[in-house]
Amino acid sequence: MFPFLLVLLLSFSWKLGASTQPVEEFLHCLSLRSQNSSVANLVYTQHSFSYSSVLNSSAQNFRFTTPSNPTPLAIVTPLHPSHVQATVYCCRKLGLQVRTRSGGHDFEGLSYVSTAYAVPFVVIDLANLRSVAVSVGESTAWVESGATIGELYYEIARRSRTLAFPAGIGHTIGIGGHLSGGGYGSIFRKYGLAADNVIDARLIDVRGRILDRKSMGEDLFWAIRGGGGGSFGIVLAWKLKLVHVPANVTSCSVTKTLEQNATVLVHRWQSIGHMLPKEVHTSFAISRVNSSEDGKTVTVQASFGSVFLGSTNELLPLMVENFPELGLTKEDCMEMSWAENAVLATQFRTGFPLETLLNRTQVSPLSKSFFKAKSDFVQQPIPEPALEGLWRKLYEEEAKSATIVFVAYGGIMDEIPETESPSPHRAGNLYTVLYVVNWGEDENVNSEKYMSWMRRVYDYMTPYVSKSPREAYVNYRDLELGANDMNNEKGNYAGAKIWGRKYFKNNFDRLVQVKTKVDPGNFFRHEQSIPTLP
Ligand SMILES: Cc1cc2nc3c(=O)[nH]c(=O)nc-3n(C[C@H](O)[C@H](O)[C@H](O)COP(=O)(O)OP(=O)(O)OC[C@H]3O[C@@H](n4cnc5c(N)ncnc54)[C@H](O)[C@@H]3O)c2cc1C
Ligand SMILES: *[C@@H]1O[C@H](CO)[C@@H](O)[C@H](O)[C@H]1NC(C)=O
Ligand SMILES: *[C@@H]1O[C@H](CO)[C@@H](O)[C@H](O)[C@H]1NC(C)=O
Ligand SMILES: *[C@@H]1O[C@H](CO)[C@@H](O)[C@H](O)[C@H]1NC(C)=O
Ligand SMILES: *[C@@H]1O[C@H](CO)[C@@H](O)[C@H](O)[C@H]1NC(C)=O
Ligand SMILES: *[C@@H]1O[C@H](CO)[C@@H](O)[C@H](O)[C@H]1NC(C)=O
Ligand SMILES: *[C@@H]1O[C@H](CO)[C@@H](O)[C@H](O)[C@H]1NC(C)=O
Repeated sequence: MFPFLLVLLLSFSWKLGASTQPVEEFLHCLSLRSQNSSVANLVYTQHSFSYSSVLNSSAQNFRFTTPSNPTPLAIVTPLHPSHVQATVYCCRKLGLQVRTRSGGHDFEGLSYVSTAYAVPFVVIDLANLRSVAVSVGESTAWVESGATIGELYYEIARRSRTLAFPAGIGHTIGIGGHLSGGGYGSIFRKYGLAADNVIDARLIDVRGRILDRKSMGEDLFWAIRGGGGGSFGIVLAWKLKLVHVPANVTSCSVTKTLEQNATVLVHRWQSIGHMLPKEVHTSFAISRVNSSEDGKTVTVQASFGSVFLGSTNELLPLMVENFPELGLTKEDCMEMSWAENAVLATQFRTGFPLETLLNRTQVSPLSKSFFKAKSDFVQQPIPEPALEGLWRKLYEEEAKSATIVFVAYGGIMDEIPETESPSPHRAGNLYTVLYVVNWGEDENVNSEKYMSWMRRVYDYMTPYVSKSPREAYVNYRDLELGANDMNNEKGNYAGAKIWGRKYFKNNFDRLVQVKTKVDPGNFFRHEQSIPTLP
């Protein structure tokens, strides 16, 4: 009893002393620890002129940059791993929380906002730690977490037209968060998730040590490849296995409205997309559009998109045989390098240089806006009338800037065992669904209207999607699935189990075991971090 009281008293008196100048204490600790007073130049505090622009710099969801959001005590922008080590040390010492940010694309802003937590927090923004070193001979690359996937794709493309990496589609996404949560894109049916192709990593653990695959051990190495960012430590860099692609790939798109029988197409595709050869990636993006110039009549359109690792001449007969309803023709398709296709995928037009991949502030429909998103996995084709019911939701006022994306699964995803990595969404899924609703700054006072539209859509879909658990993709973070109790040292294990099973199925238990072993004090913590065992 006595030692416990003493600790309480000590920490209370420390807090009294520190509460006057926590920022100064932090800065002081950092310069001492790194034995370099100019490290303070890498720290932005609330008084710094550029604090707000640095904080906003990579934030993608403006819901979390409005003045009502809690802001960090400081933002640290390390130039060297030792600066990250010193920050971890000082935050622990002073009882501050850390949030690690790589690309800032977290759907719920968890890399730069802490809404539920009473303790001040510090953002470690890794944007300056973003080197990419490609070895064409070995078909590998070391990439630092602060790089974007566009920077990775660009560096690979500069050296080889036939090497690629199976990560996501938006090129501004950060490597750090993306690989931590799995990562899928245009070639995942052939090569698996981004995290499936990580062969080594450098991680800073809670004690500030830098560990590689060998020194961290296979359990922790397993956990950081899909268990979600922000739970186990700070990954500084990843060693990737690059994959082979043809010098040209084929990219096709076909857009149909309801009047052009879009529903029939989508309905058919549900039983086709996952069965196609691994070399074919297909998706549908479904949204409402004006059908008259004055906007008085609207319809729903379904945009089919595909990427094929081969030529148009090989693809067309394959599609005619498997998906004749689509009526795909040569004119719907273009050939280009895989990296050029990555540019096209975010620009929707050709003619942009490869350097577009290096633009970290590029705006795309799903980035740099106010949005709410959710995900689902579909294991049985949805009946046509039920699809029509979903389209009806798109006619509601709140859905004027909503998009629902269906992406075919199958291929190698059916062959990788569920326990191979924390990402459990493997065999048995026909496709995944991403729902996004966007709104403008002037409408943000009514954000609840859009949030509730999203919940209605999600409820509507319940009978048609995966059940027990209703699976969800951790990289499409959704705090409405439940959150940790941030003010409880241990997190809220019972609550976490609910979203934990959705994101990880039974892999959640192994993640909790790893977490309990490597970070028993639950230092690396956020609203949906893996809890320690109760
Ligand atoms: C426009 C857009 C397009 C997208 N497209 C795709 C897609 O095609 N495919 C796909 O799979 N996903 C996609 N996503 C989702 C994306 O993969 C996730 O949001 C991913 O987590 C973002 O990584 P980040 O580094 O940018 O995010 P951040 O917000 O920086 O980080 C996300 C989480 O990881 C933690 N974290 C960040 N860096 C590290 C690190 N170095 N070590 C440990 N933890 C860390 C953060 O604390 C946070 O909890 C997209 C998202 C957006 C906004
Ligand atoms: C101190 O940190 C600065 C970055 O702020 C760096 O440029 C400099 O090289 C460091 N000096 C030493 C001795 O490490
Ligand atoms: C950061 O974003 C918020 C909300 O979008 C805005 O009010 C603020 O002016 C931005 N700050 C800077 C420096 O851009
Ligand atoms: C849509 O389907 C109907 C019934 O199968 C058919 O008669 C009609 O021609 C199709 N419309 C278009 C635009 O393909
Ligand atoms: C559709 O019409 C509405 C109403 O006129 C208009 O505000 C909107 O910008 C139009 N949308 C597009 C994509 O043209
Ligand atoms: C790739 O396709 C483009 C466009 O059809 C063509 O100009 C180019 O020669 C092709 N390159 C290779 C290496 O096949
Ligand atoms: C990057 O993209 C943004 C937004 O699309 C654009 O305004 C900016 O000019 C681009 N920057 C460069 C260097 O091309």
